[in-house]
Amino acid sequence: MMWSPRDSDFKKLVQTLPKEKGWLGPDLYFYQGFWYPTRILKAFISFQNHFQAFNSDIIVATFPKCGTTWLKALTFSTLYRNQFPWDENPLLTFGPHQLVRFFEHDLYLNNPFPDLQNVCVYQPRLFSTHVSYTSLPTSIKDSGCKIVYICRNPMDMLISFWQFMTKVQDGESLSLDEAFDKFYHGIIVHGPCFDHVLGYWKASQENPNKILFLKYEDLKEDTGSHLKNLAMFLGVPFTDDEEKQGVIEKIAKICSFENLKELEVNKKGAHISRVPHTGFFRKGEVGDWSNYLTPFMIECLEKLIQEKLNGSGLTF
Ligand code: A3P
Repeated sequence: MMWSPRDSDFKKLVQTLPKEKGWLGPDLYFYQGFWYPTRILKAFISFQNHFQAFNSDIIVATFPKCGTTWLKALTFSTLYRNQFPWDENPLLTFGPHQLVRFFEHDLYLNNPFPDLQNVCVYQPRLFSTHVSYTSLPTSIKDSGCKIVYICRNPMDMLISFWQFMTKVQDGESLSLDEAFDKFYHGIIVHGPCFDHVLGYWKASQENPNKILFLKYEDLKEDTGSHLKNLAMFLGVPFTDDEEKQGVIEKIAKICSFENLKELEVNKKGAHISRVPHTGFFRKGEVGDWSNYLTPFMIECLEKLIQEKLNGSGLTF
């Protein structure tokens, strides 16, 4: 189906889709197995139908609140490290979401044919998406372009998303009980999270040269060795000289939560989706869920995680 959703066609489509109340803000619609607010759905359909990948493209793909901002910073700094002087790393003056732009939350919003020519200052092109693996444009799946994916313990996803929503939707609030109930039933933007994670997990198992699958917890524990793998995967391995000069440590440091959070650029302004940049930096810790979830919620989620991941080889 090659179409740019004109308003009337799009409205007709939306009327046929299952609908649920969103966490806060707009309703969510179920399309191709995942939940979207209409604004993002429309942009996603344009992206799905029109984006033409280059073999050299790199895509940062994530489930929301799993470390997108961090992985954008790490991938950008690793991939382009020889294209700017170290003390002029654009991360010092631009937010990670300005440097690595989202397809459906940014470039294709209100524009079915964005001019992608000038979007990426450096080469190869680097983009990002929260779209599920199954729904990616064919040209991404069939071309030689590479995907870097990150996920996270679902309990931390839930708490991070819940905190993010209450911060972003000024004045509105959603109880943890309500958030838990929605998350448990898979009702969350770009969810169900397990389908999202397993889609990329299985694809990465089948094609490890195309998809690098990372976990937030592993990256936290040993950023350096994962950066080495990332560089290798991207086709820009660190040289012995770079290792000796501490380039890996420098990248890890500039992209660290503590550094990015304190940069002036990340303390002001907003992402194109109206999210303040500060909304992307909260605690940056593993296991913060234990400060919020009740024993009942933990038991339910542990069972759910076990049931959903059973037999997949993926664990949290
Ligand atoms: P918390 O809410 O648990 O603090 P995303 O970028 O996908 O929206 O994910 C946001 C989560 O990643 C938030 O988690 C945020 O604090 C954390 N985060 C942002 N930048 C980070 C960084 N440089 N290192 C580690 N975690 C980071």
